[in-house]
Amino acid sequence: MLVLTKTEEVTTHLRNWDDFHIAMVPTMGALHDGHLQLVKEAKSLGYSVLVSIFVNPRQFNNPEDLAKYPKTLDQDLALLSTVNADWVFVPEYEEIYSNNFEDIELNINGLDNVFEGSFRPGHFDGVIQVLYRFFKIVNPEAVFFGQKDLQQCMVVRCLINAFFPNMKFFQVETIRNDFGLALSSRNQRLSPGGLLAATSIFKAMTALKDHRKNYLEALRFATSILTNAGIEIEYFNWIELPNMNVLDENSIDVNTHQAIVFAGYLEGVRLIDNLVFD
Ligand code: PAF
Repeated sequence: MLVLTKTEEVTTHLRNWDDFHIAMVPTMGALHDGHLQLVKEAKSLGYSVLVSIFVNPRQFNNPEDLAKYPKTLDQDLALLSTVNADWVFVPEYEEIYSNNFEDIELNINGLDNVFEGSFRPGHFDGVIQVLYRFFKIVNPEAVFFGQKDLQQCMVVRCLINAFFPNMKFFQVETIRNDFGLALSSRNQRLSPGGLLAATSIFKAMTALKDHRKNYLEALRFATSILTNAGIEIEYFNWIELPNMNVLDENSIDVNTHQAIVFAGYLEGVRLIDNLVFD
């Protein structure tokens, strides 16, 4: 496994691998089994895999969140070698935000105004600008993203459709611990009690789904599971995909492309999760 820090090193190394199928897994480090699963899936499809580790300041709307973002590079590299990642690209800020690239404009069909877009102003623009640069530098045949960041997956699809039409996009199912908690780098900031309380997110989403016949009551019950666990809810809705319109009791249906989406704070840590149907 080669660790690269310069853009030029990446282009030189990958050029020598022209005959190979290269996939990219973009990350911000603090890796967990969810990230490793992305690498494993890419490898199982025969790709050689480049993982990037870069905490992108431009996608943080909250400076405190950026300052507290966990950084565990040595451990990340050790984990990546267990899944046979081929290259790890760990650039400095200047390497990515040099003058080589202009910011792009991208229409993301209103995704910047709802849910993550509205609670984290500027977040998706930051994600778009960094991924545009990474995709230009690495030029992967395929990219792998986790479904836990459902709205981000939709934004990345817009980016690919507009600027990288030949790139393949893979959305990989969320990995959960034995109690249903979605793996997330942010979980590292929770206390042992917080980790237990955070399992209420999956419980609440599952309760809403299971008791949906009595939707309004189910919503009240599921919401109480979250609040009783000390979670401050930002949003908790049943939505239609891909437009993300909020649905009511008359239009929810687990056999169509719909989802339950959640975001909230626990112990000052912002957590998101979702259940996707169909
Ligand atoms: O999901 C993430 O970790 C980040 O948003 C990404 C895709 C690596 C872009 O910085």
